[in-house]
Amino acid sequence: MNKKKEFIPALGYDWLTSFYDLTIKLTMPEKEFRSKLVQILEPQSNETILEFGFGTGENLILTHLENKETKLVGLDIDPKVKSIAEYKLNKLGFNIALDLYNGSNFPYTENSFDKVFSSLVFHQLERETKLFCLKEIHRVLIPNGKLIIGDWGKAKSKMMRIAFLLVQILDGFKTTDDNVKGYLPELIKQSGFKDVREVDFINTKIGTYSYYSAVK
Ligand SMILES: C[S@@+](CC[C@H](N)C(=O)[O-])C[C@H]1O[C@@H](n2cnc3c(N)ncnc32)[C@H](O)[C@@H]1O
Repeated sequence: MNKKKEFIPALGYDWLTSFYDLTIKLTMPEKEFRSKLVQILEPQSNETILEFGFGTGENLILTHLENKETKLVGLDIDPKVKSIAEYKLNKLGFNIALDLYNGSNFPYTENSFDKVFSSLVFHQLERETKLFCLKEIHRVLIPNGKLIIGDWGKAKSKMMRIAFLLVQILDGFKTTDDNVKGYLPELIKQSGFKDVREVDFINTKIGTYSYYSAVK
């Protein structure tokens, strides 16, 4: 399928991308939400794991620190975040392949990964793109391979719903609506996954961050 390479940058606007790490530090319980993601991911030594939408590379760095034997690969659509992540990984001496996504089929063959994970990406995709990418993730996973998504989920209180308006103003209402209404698990199921579950969540200053797991 040929799709146009259109995307929402990490903080909604291209000129804000260099402030992404600082903004996350100031607005999110970063240590808590990222370490929980890695805990749920449980990277094993014999596994090959893809992060879809690696951003500035923070999750890849933590995952590598958790298990240096796991083979990690990153895929992101934005060349700007790719250079930021590359700079950080080179500085740390971590050898992790980062691929630039062209918005079409993923550049991997079927059954390439034991696990695929993604954090704070799906709320930036329109529904059609959410479904397309979920199907691509399904295709590149091995049978019984695992998908872990951490992203904005159904607001767990009125306060969380109001707080999330800030994210919606930055990233747009169209792409974030499915997340905050709690539709993401249904879209994951529609893409062919089984055992789709919300396994945990964290209420942050700007909304409820949920963890979903699913199996191919
Ligand atoms: C909010 S950032 C999250 C970055 C990182 N995963 C994290 O947890 O901090 C969203 C990322 O998704 C990427 N992205 C947006 N649309 C995308 C698409 N269609 N395909 C792949 N990556 C995309 C952006 O370039 C950005 O790096």
